[in-house]
Amino acid sequence: MRQAGRYLPEYKETRRKAGSFLDLCYTPELAAEVTLQPIRRFGFDAAILFSDILVVPHALGREVRFEEGRGPLLEPIAVGDIERLSIASFHDHLQPVYEAVGRVRESLSHETTLLGFCGAPWTVATYMIAGHGTPDQGPARLFGYRHADAMDRLLGKLAEVSAEYLVRQIEAGADAVQIFDSWAGVLDEECFERYCVRPVAEIVARVRRRFPDVPIIGFPRGAAGAYRSYREKTGVTALGLDWTVPMSMAAELQGEGPVQGNLDPMRLVAGGDALIEGVDIILGGLGAGPLIFNLGHGITPETPIAYVEALIELLREAKA
Ligand code: CP3
Repeated sequence: MRQAGRYLPEYKETRRKAGSFLDLCYTPELAAEVTLQPIRRFGFDAAILFSDILVVPHALGREVRFEEGRGPLLEPIAVGDIERLSIASFHDHLQPVYEAVGRVRESLSHETTLLGFCGAPWTVATYMIAGHGTPDQGPARLFGYRHADAMDRLLGKLAEVSAEYLVRQIEAGADAVQIFDSWAGVLDEECFERYCVRPVAEIVARVRRRFPDVPIIGFPRGAAGAYRSYREKTGVTALGLDWTVPMSMAAELQGEGPVQGNLDPMRLVAGGDALIEGVDIILGGLGAGPLIFNLGHGITPETPIAYVEALIELLREAKA
């Protein structure tokens, strides 16, 4: 999940220096700096590359902008545009990302894991289709029902390039990779299978052909009862759990492999008893097995730095 961002003054400072959000993503020196800032400040066990899932459609030739307060804005894709998505300069476009990975790996100690990432094809497609974030991804769901073949082609293309994107990040120094399917939870069972499971299974298979042992974390946010079959069918190593996953189910999932999560980010904004209770529940339920303690979704700009420090202290005490 996000470690960098607007809750950190040093991030805001570097962001100002960079100009636009995308300039920050594409300037290796600054992207590396922003990746390292939370590690320097808090000493997390793992760093996540600073970039965004939407550099992938950008590298395929789509228009992508980030506007302050409005989030990402894209030129909505039409059926006829899908064949024209261009992979000709895909890796050239993303070269600065690979360079940022290399720079971060050089600066990090060997005990600190570096996570690369990409968006899952469905989640990236939702932004490509609607052109912006929406509450329930109605436009992308409708697109899938009206143009099933075009949707399959779009997801297939995204799976192919995303796999190659992850392979290049691993070559550049990422120790593990995470696939963010933040909008998995809005789909019915049939569509979940076609849009989430199938393309992510394709990515996992392609990455494993090159790097059989690199851990892959899947995060099908909101997938509820489908989390288990998602791991079985996609072959991801670890499951990122959102905070709505009940502890009994999380523990069962952990019986089959590592899990990551799943503190409600608002507990970190609230601090105090809400934070202590959330940590206790997770460590009580999952602390004895393979667990990557994390938020159940991204950190929010209003998070007080003091509460992040308090969280780390709680976790280190529990581990000691
Ligand atoms: O912590 C890190 O350094 C990791 C970098 C990272 C970002 N985005 C940077 C970012 C990662 C892993 C992401 C993933 C991402 N981006 C996802 C999947 C995970 C999730 O959070 O669901 C999605 C759906 C996106 C698309 C995206 N990017 C949205 C919807 C937004 C706007 C949200 C907002 O808070 O305004 C972004 C912008 C963005 N990407 C920010 C950051 C730090 C916030 C902009 C800023 O702080 O300048």
